[in-house]
Amino acid sequence: MSRPLADALARYPRVSLTRVPTPLDRVTRVGEQIGLDLYLKRDDLTDLAMGGDKPRKLEYEVARAVSAGATVLVTVGSAQSNHARLTTAAARRVGMGITVVLGRDDRVTFQGNLLTVRLMGADVRLVDTADHWALEEDARVVCDKLRAAGETPHFIPVSGSTPHSCLGYVRAGLELVDQLGERELEPAAIYVPCGTGGILVGLTTALRDAGVDCPIVGISVNRPAAQCYERIDAWWRAVSELLELDPNRPRGPIEVDDGYIGREYGDPTEACLDAILRMGSTEGILLDPVYSGKVFAGLCGHQAAGRWPGGASVVMLHSGGTPALFAYQDALAVHLDRKKGVEH
Ligand SMILES: Cc1ncc(COP(=O)(O)O)c(C=O)c1O
Repeated sequence: MSRPLADALARYPRVSLTRVPTPLDRVTRVGEQIGLDLYLKRDDLTDLAMGGDKPRKLEYEVARAVSAGATVLVTVGSAQSNHARLTTAAARRVGMGITVVLGRDDRVTFQGNLLTVRLMGADVRLVDTADHWALEEDARVVCDKLRAAGETPHFIPVSGSTPHSCLGYVRAGLELVDQLGERELEPAAIYVPCGTGGILVGLTTALRDAGVDCPIVGISVNRPAAQCYERIDAWWRAVSELLELDPNRPRGPIEVDDGYIGREYGDPTEACLDAILRMGSTEGILLDPVYSGKVFAGLCGHQAAGRWPGGASVVMLHSGGTPALFAYQDALAVHLDRKKGVEH
């Protein structure tokens, strides 16, 4: 582990929300199928309320809430938000209240993440909006009301991404650097989801610091690549400032591919559903229809186009999200039937 970066990180308070390291699993059967030496960084196995990327991010953001004397966490997301599930769980872990402001989209069903949020007793406010990424104003109104009622709310933005929460993925990056070192692995590429870009920037910060210079490939789940790059620039500057790193240092190759989104965020595309089936039926590992399924669809698509040399080592971050599978049962059922030749 690179000491100075680890030391800079250690200056920030963190509440423990999950045991780490998560495994770096070699998945040989699916790897052989697509012609790669493939590894999954299993952040779906973080051990807070069904896992995913958020526990790592929330460890730093919830520590800020605790030191600010917060009594309630407030956050926003889609009806099937993984972030809402894990912020609810984190609030309960530290004994706080929790209000989640969710977009009333077409996945408002008592299933998946929304079911878990309700089981953990969150105060759920559903808001009519075409874009759950734009719910901050609604959350501000909720925070004002909570303040008027004597509470101290701490607002956490969509996807849990703040400069401090990106530190969780700097820490994950240090962990991955150690695991690559132990296996003497020099990956040709590392694939990650790109929503707000928080994961991508946190990981890249640590990897570059340790001299890992392969392309980091973000598969966009929601935005055109140009917007993703703008967000990546902003997080890069913010994280550099927190860790006292020169923001103009070389960043190495970062690519964002926006060709796997489908019609919109959360669209269960054919390629994504195929990727979920492929991983499930070869490795017994579940991906989700919004994030990890799309990342794997992107990786398979790139490999089918001959992007990486045959047998090259590639790492994919599995960032979790699998509870959303249950809210996509209709699309999954149709897809499975289609594969079996059943007409709908
Ligand atoms: C499972 C999962 N993976 C990835 C992401 C996106 O991460 P980021 O916003 O840091 O790009 C999210 C965000 O909500 C998520 O729930």
